[in-house]
Amino acid sequence: MTADLVKIWRQAYEIVPEQLARVSSVKQVATAFNTNIDAVTKISGAELSKLAQLTGLTSINDNSGVNIVNTPQDAVRGMVKCFVGGIAEEWLCENKNVDDWLQKNLRRGHLQMGGQAGIIANVLSVLGVQRIYTHAASLPQMQAKLFLNTDNLFAFDEKNNIGKAHNINRKNDEPLIHRIIEFDAGDFLFFNNQKYVCPKSNRFIATYDPANMSLKIDEGFVKHINSCGFDFMFLSGFHNLTAKHGGVQKINDIVPLVQHWKSTNPAGIIHLELASTQDKTIRREIIDKIAPVVDSVGLNEREALDTLEIIAPDIFASVNTKNPDAATLLGILPILRQKLQTPRIQLHFYGTYLTLQNKDFILSPEQNKRGMMLAATVATAKAKSGNIDKENLLQAHGGNIGSAAIKNMEILAIALQKPDFAAAGIAEYQGFDLTAVPTVLVDKPRTLVGMGDTISSVSLIGAV
Ligand code: GLC
Repeated sequence: MTADLVKIWRQAYEIVPEQLARVSSVKQVATAFNTNIDAVTKISGAELSKLAQLTGLTSINDNSGVNIVNTPQDAVRGMVKCFVGGIAEEWLCENKNVDDWLQKNLRRGHLQMGGQAGIIANVLSVLGVQRIYTHAASLPQMQAKLFLNTDNLFAFDEKNNIGKAHNINRKNDEPLIHRIIEFDAGDFLFFNNQKYVCPKSNRFIATYDPANMSLKIDEGFVKHINSCGFDFMFLSGFHNLTAKHGGVQKINDIVPLVQHWKSTNPAGIIHLELASTQDKTIRREIIDKIAPVVDSVGLNEREALDTLEIIAPDIFASVNTKNPDAATLLGILPILRQKLQTPRIQLHFYGTYLTLQNKDFILSPEQNKRGMMLAATVATAKAKSGNIDKENLLQAHGGNIGSAAIKNMEILAIALQKPDFAAAGIAEYQGFDLTAVPTVLVDKPRTLVGMGDTISSVSLIGAV
């Protein structure tokens, strides 16, 4: 059966180049709010052991519940947690000295576009969307040069004038650099004479970024969107807020703006990318106030569990949060959709993307399926080569669908009690349309940061 399924899905994926060609029909996309610079460093288990020693970390089991970087040891605690668990987290850092310490003690990172708004803008410009407008809290030359040098990608200067994003230089703006620490599956860490193997390639992010942490608004962007509108808008960056520093008020201030954008662009689709939000008050605010005013929400399995923790703590307590399988994630999807009050929700996890949406959603399940296959192809290219450009966009096309991915489709079919689902990837589920695709799996990804943003945005834009 598995071999048959591989063949069926390989055939289904043949549509991908045709689907890519459709993206150039998309006229205007807006991406907001967070654009930053990522300094990406790969760390080995051996290097991590040394940092643990250097900062005096005494335990590998982190039960502190404090997911914030106040000291170098906190940063190392976060790295160790993500390494040992094979998980992705982002912790905010409010202390410039700790950021300086990280800069000094980590190997020099490679700089690349960071933040959902920036990453999605670059991806969509390669895919051929006609015009993309990006929000940037800060846009010095160092940041601007990370926007691809393409004519369809726009941002705003200090006088709020629109220009090619790559060429803007707001001279008084500070570069906002996030430390991305990546590690490889199979690498190991010795700690107190015990060996811990990293189960899954992943990353930890330590973010010191005063502008995005206070959701500084780019007036040029807001004015432009208010007058020109959009077909699709991708929102994110709320995860950088903290309750301690007025995050709740910031969200209260933003909600009417998003509602305004929605009411003035009734045919436009607004997507929220949830992102790893450690501050639980802010997480609840995003769930209660932002999610209900958008059309679509994207998240990975950790973010799904983080959301479940807030909206249904009793169910959260009963699931295997360390290693949830496809059936568990399928089970929580309708709960998330209902509590987030969103017409469409897309969950991605290792080997599989799942979309659950209202029956009258403007994009059909078939369209979703095609968009998700395009997204899987593009995301694989990104994982393999570290970035994407016009030349490598389809390099993973025709690649092997992973057996773990096919297995997930079988698990989902059993959970749904619909045997055909494993091959079709489309079914009705609790009164909604469910779509799933198995993806190509990359053994040794060059990078993983920004994968979720790529998957969510290409799945949606690629569904046209
Ligand atoms: C978060 C991080 C940012 C990173 C992005 C990737 O927004 O703050 O540094 O580029 O996630 O998804």
